[in-house]
Amino acid sequence: MRATESLELLGVGLANAAWVTTRTGIELLRFGRSSWWWRLRWAMIRAWVGQTPLGVVRREGAASGLSEEDLVYGETLPGTAFDLLKALEVGSQDIVIDLGCGRGVLPLVAGLAFQARAVGLEVLEGFVSRGRRAAEFLGLDGVDFQKGDFREGPLPRGTVYFLAGTCLEPSSWAAVTRNLADSAPARARAVSLSQALPSAEWEALGRREMAFSWGSATVFLHRRRSRPRRKRSARRAHVRSKGSAGRSA
Ligand SMILES: C[S@@+](CC[C@H](N)C(=O)[O-])C[C@H]1O[C@@H](n2cnc3c(N)ncnc32)[C@H](O)[C@@H]1O
Repeated sequence: MRATESLELLGVGLANAAWVTTRTGIELLRFGRSSWWWRLRWAMIRAWVGQTPLGVVRREGAASGLSEEDLVYGETLPGTAFDLLKALEVGSQDIVIDLGCGRGVLPLVAGLAFQARAVGLEVLEGFVSRGRRAAEFLGLDGVDFQKGDFREGPLPRGTVYFLAGTCLEPSSWAAVTRNLADSAPARARAVSLSQALPSAEWEALGRREMAFSWGSATVFLHRRRSRPRRKRSARRAHVRSKGSAGRSA
C-alpha cells in the first residue's frame, strides 16, 4: 500500500473515531440516566473482549462466499436503535428481526428497553456466538441469535424487520427483499436504510435522517400491505378486460 493511501485510510479512521465519540457523548446526555443504556454497553464490552467486528469479518468473511460489498461493516448506534423502535411503536407483543445483525445492537435494545422478543439473523458465526453471549449476560431469554443467510428463505417470522442494506450488492438486495415479501405477515413493519422497500408490498410510513456508526443515513419506515399492490398497467388491463367481458355478456 502506498504512503498516500495509508495516510488517507488513517484520516478516514480518525474522522470516524471522532464521529462515534461525539455521538456517544450525545447519547450519554440523552440516556445517561437509563439503566438499559449502561447495561448494554457493559454487556458489549464483556462479550467482545479481545475481539472486534472487523476481526470477525477478516477471519470469516472469505469463507462465507459473500462479496466485499455485502461484508462492509457498520453498526446501528444504541440511541438510533432506540429511536427507530420507538418510532415503530414496538412493545412486548412484538418480535423484532434484524436481517444481518452484526453485533446485534438492535435486537438487544429491543429486548432491554422495549421488552420485545427479537432475533438477530447473521451469516458469520463470530457475531452469532458473541450476540448470544451478550443476551445471556443481560438475562434476555427472548432475544435469540441465529446463523443464516438472509438471501435464502424463509426468514424468521416477526412483526418488525430491520434491514441495514446500504452497501449490499444489487443481487443480494433483490434476494433479501423478495424473501422479506414472502415471509413478512400482513401489517408487519419494516425499516430499510438508504433505499425504500418495493412499494408493491410495502406502504411507506415516512423517512428520516439518522446517525449510524459510519455517519448519517436515510431511514425508510414501512408497513406490509395486506394485499400486494398490482402494477398500474396490470390494473388498467384488468379493468378493461372486465369492461369488455360485461359488454359481451
Ligand atoms: C452493515 S452490517 C449491519 C449490522 C446491524 N444490522 C446493525 O445495523 O448494527 C451488515 C451485517 O450483515 C451481515 N450480512 C451480510 N450479508 C448477509 C447475508 N446474506 N445473510 C446474513 N447476514 C449477512 C454482515 O456480516 C454484517 O454483519
